[in-house]
Amino acid sequence: MSASIVLGTQWGDEGKGKVIDILASRADVVVRSQGGNNAGHTVANNGQTYKLRLIPSGILYKDTLCLIGAGVVLNPKDFLGEIEGMQARGISCDNLKIDPRAHIVLPWHIELDGLSEAFRGGKDIGTTRRGIGPAYMDKYERSGIRFYDLIHPEIFAEKARATGRLRNEIITKVFGGTPVDIEAMIEEYTEYGKRLAKYEGDVSVLTYEAQKAGKTILFEGAQATLLDIDYGTYPYVTSSHPVSGGVCTGTGVGPKMIDEIYGVAKAYTTRVGKGPFPTELFDSTGDYIRDKGGEYGTNTGRPRRIGWFDSVIMRHAVRVNGLTGIVVNKLDTLAGIDTLKICTAYKKADGTIITDFPPTLEGLEGCEPVYEEHKGFNDDISGCRSFEELPEVCREYIERLEELCECKIKMVGVGPDREQIIERD
Ligand code: GDP
Ligand code: IMO
Ligand code: MG
Repeated sequence: MSASIVLGTQWGDEGKGKVIDILASRADVVVRSQGGNNAGHTVANNGQTYKLRLIPSGILYKDTLCLIGAGVVLNPKDFLGEIEGMQARGISCDNLKIDPRAHIVLPWHIELDGLSEAFRGGKDIGTTRRGIGPAYMDKYERSGIRFYDLIHPEIFAEKARATGRLRNEIITKVFGGTPVDIEAMIEEYTEYGKRLAKYEGDVSVLTYEAQKAGKTILFEGAQATLLDIDYGTYPYVTSSHPVSGGVCTGTGVGPKMIDEIYGVAKAYTTRVGKGPFPTELFDSTGDYIRDKGGEYGTNTGRPRRIGWFDSVIMRHAVRVNGLTGIVVNKLDTLAGIDTLKICTAYKKADGTIITDFPPTLEGLEGCEPVYEEHKGFNDDISGCRSFEELPEVCREYIERLEELCECKIKMVGVGPDREQIIERD
């Protein structure tokens, strides 16, 4: 019996899906607490690759209960498409439950996401345009539509008419956009509601009961620490709480039930979308890593920005999340680079050295990464299954990251497949 969180420590796409899939082989329940279909989690098993957006990454195990908590924003149309896609590949989605409190992403959210981004001009956030920000805006403004409403046609129609009218005023009169056909939308989404009704379940209760019954529970983070609405690089962030604290509010569980908090990182750093990225590479090494690591968005296909491993953001992630362990993925991708760099601190414009990640963009402005250099490696490490099998330079690199992050590195990823992991301890 245990409860663990797996979350992102950088700017997303650290390989959380893979880690969840690995740990799910020993778990009974996997729970998503926040975010929506802005996530893209890849699970690779035996030559088969699955890209999940809303369905928890425990779905490949037929007996694992997969829960979607109150803190998630759910796009019903996309979610049904995802279920159908999995079913077409022989994966059963019968073990899914959605909390009635989860908010629904509707067409006007998607429309408003695109219109707001366009309105920001060159200062756009680079969102996934999945309507995530506008859906959370409605939730906090207390005019959102929840999963419970969606699966009760009369309530849904009434609420959709009430809030849709105002959203259309904003779309047309503020932005000059095309209004949503509310009646057609109600008809279409009522059908989705009917198909999804069987998945309703109180995730707070289900998780609590599972824990009381001695089950093993995994909480699957989406996005990442530096994309957190408070602890990320605001405003270049997402609209939810991907940090460990978000698990409690997003699922309806207390903090004392959590035993382990794994922070997933890459052996370098990536970011998709706009915003500060101190260790970003603009040279051929960045291109090499992007090509070798296939660094293109799982969800949107956008090329990911690439940079060196940044221990300043990692220490921030260790502190903000209370990490008990780190997983470093994609060490294999660094093979073939002569010299590896690790950022140990930032140097401010006035020459001061700082080791804590600044809380504001203004504080980050003018900060230059301070690097130390490590010898690279050429070996193909994708077949290594124990830490001892890794070449000495790789072991030294990982041990140095561990020292700088001030947290134990418990797993090292050497390839995308669920087998390609080295567990330490
Ligand atoms: P997530 O959003 O955190 O679940 O990560 P994504 O799935 O968006 O992106 C991670 C990518 O890296 C996927 O294509 C994974 O298949 C791949 N991946 C994960 N771990 C490793 C690893 O250790 N080595 C390599 N080469 N690829 C990995
Ligand atoms: P996973 O779970 C990487 C980024 C977007 C943009 C910002 C805001 O796969 O790691 P949003 O659509 O959420 O309003 O966009 O957040 N972003 C992600 N980047 N991985 C993700 O998810 C992301 N989800 C959102 O690119 O910069
Ligand atoms: Mg991803």
